[in-house]
Amino acid sequence: MGYRQFTSKLARVIYDDEVVDAGCEKLFHCDWLAANSRCALVERGKAVMFAYRGRELVFKQYHRGGLIGRLVEKTYLYSPLSNTRVWREFNMLRAMRELGLPVPRPVAARCVSVPPLAYRGALITERIPDSRTLTEILRERPLDNEAWAKLGALIARFHHKNVYHADLNASNILLTGGGDFYLIDFDKGTIRRSLSRQDADANVARLRRSLCKLQKRCPEFHFAEDNWQALERAYRAAIDQPENQAG
Ligand SMILES: Nc1ncnc2c1ncn2[C@@H]1O[C@H](COP(=O)(O)OP(=O)(O)O)[C@@H](O)[C@H]1O
Ligand SMILES: [Mg+2]
Repeated sequence: MGYRQFTSKLARVIYDDEVVDAGCEKLFHCDWLAANSRCALVERGKAVMFAYRGRELVFKQYHRGGLIGRLVEKTYLYSPLSNTRVWREFNMLRAMRELGLPVPRPVAARCVSVPPLAYRGALITERIPDSRTLTEILRERPLDNEAWAKLGALIARFHHKNVYHADLNASNILLTGGGDFYLIDFDKGTIRRSLSRQDADANVARLRRSLCKLQKRCPEFHFAEDNWQALERAYRAAIDQPENQAG
């Protein structure tokens, strides 16, 4: 029981055999997804939610970026899969769950080589039940400062475990109906041997920029300076505590 890998013609797949089996490659095909989700058209860059064997799952495909330099990740030539973005995110989710951090369970990842030099990656995770992104929620209603403080303490918990989230914005934070936060989308993130204060602060600053930008675009957006202060105060308090006492 656990994680298994296999290689088919041009693809390589890793999957959690407690959730799916070796037949899971079909879940990565646009036709199968379109037939088994409410998404009529599977577009690149858009997450697709679907049910499979009694579980709610989420499929996402990686953007390859624009220009040739970005299109071909250099590492692909030398270490075909372990260094691809999708493999890294899969393994990072796995490691974070082992550390007890609230992130989605990784279910399967697939890399297809696109000769001669490129590849295409996709990831399937378990959907966080009854959750919405912070962006969606704040468009509708405010959160109380207790919730903002809870989020601040949670970010500190990730930082205590040396997790660097490369893109901590409001759409990469989920909140459940029960009031629990989850972080998602660890594309290009890393678990460092030791996370520097500078990088940790950059994560927090990135989130603030994202919230301010959303507010600028939509005056109805429920985000106020004292919300940010509640988050930051809780973050600082938690980060100053030894790890085992942090929230
Ligand atoms: N495990 C999950 N549970 C619930 N919703 C998810 C999950 N993974 C992704 N989503 C939804 O899909 C969106 C896109 O996924 P994300 O991993 O952020 O990819 P990207 O931003 O690169 O497209 C998220 O903002 C969120 O709305
Ligand atoms: Mg995202």
